[in-house]
Amino acid sequence: MTVENKYKAEFIEILKATGRENIDYVIEDLEDIGFFEAPASCKNHFNFEGGLVEHSLNVYRVACILKTELAKLRPDVVSRIPDDSIAIAALLHDVCKADIYKKETKKVRNEIGVWEAQEAYNIDYSDFPLGHGEKSVIMLLRSGLDLSDDEIMAIRWHMGSWDVAFQSSEMIANNRKAKDICPLLSLIHTADTLAAGILEGK
Ligand SMILES: [Fe+2]
Ligand SMILES: [Fe+2]
Repeated sequence: MTVENKYKAEFIEILKATGRENIDYVIEDLEDIGFFEAPASCKNHFNFEGGLVEHSLNVYRVACILKTELAKLRPDVVSRIPDDSIAIAALLHDVCKADIYKKETKKVRNEIGVWEAQEAYNIDYSDFPLGHGEKSVIMLLRSGLDLSDDEIMAIRWHMGSWDVAFQSSEMIANNRKAKDICPLLSLIHTADTLAAGILEGK
């Protein structure tokens, strides 16, 4: 089994273990859209084929570690975060990225300064230009996944202030309220930041 297939198999196993209705349709749609081959970014963290599934697993791993440790300090709050919601939100928060990275051949200078053709990813939003977390939520609902309110809020707002900086005051107020009432949101946002910044750092 290749490393890429190992991550894909682990991702599917964790998703199926949630026992959620229609999870097979979600996996089928992810296959069709190219999720398992997609990179996690075009220039930053995990910008290689299969990077997106590996990043999603990293977010899941970090979220599980955080939940275990935070439960020692605030068991009352952490008890409101079901394990299957962590799997759903962590593994599926970035499905919006599955169709935005296109491989292109670019001319770049090599180590000795000679121009040569190299394959690289570029961003193209034209398949479904709808945003980020909100796009992931809509894609999953369309696949037939019955997301809980907390899962919707956690996926929608997982980018935190990276997302709301240029949005309206109404969006900022919505984001604040969601953070107040949904501990899953803070868990997924923090796990995403730690996965990209530390586990996937250069
Ligand atoms: Fe994201
Ligand atoms: Fe992410």
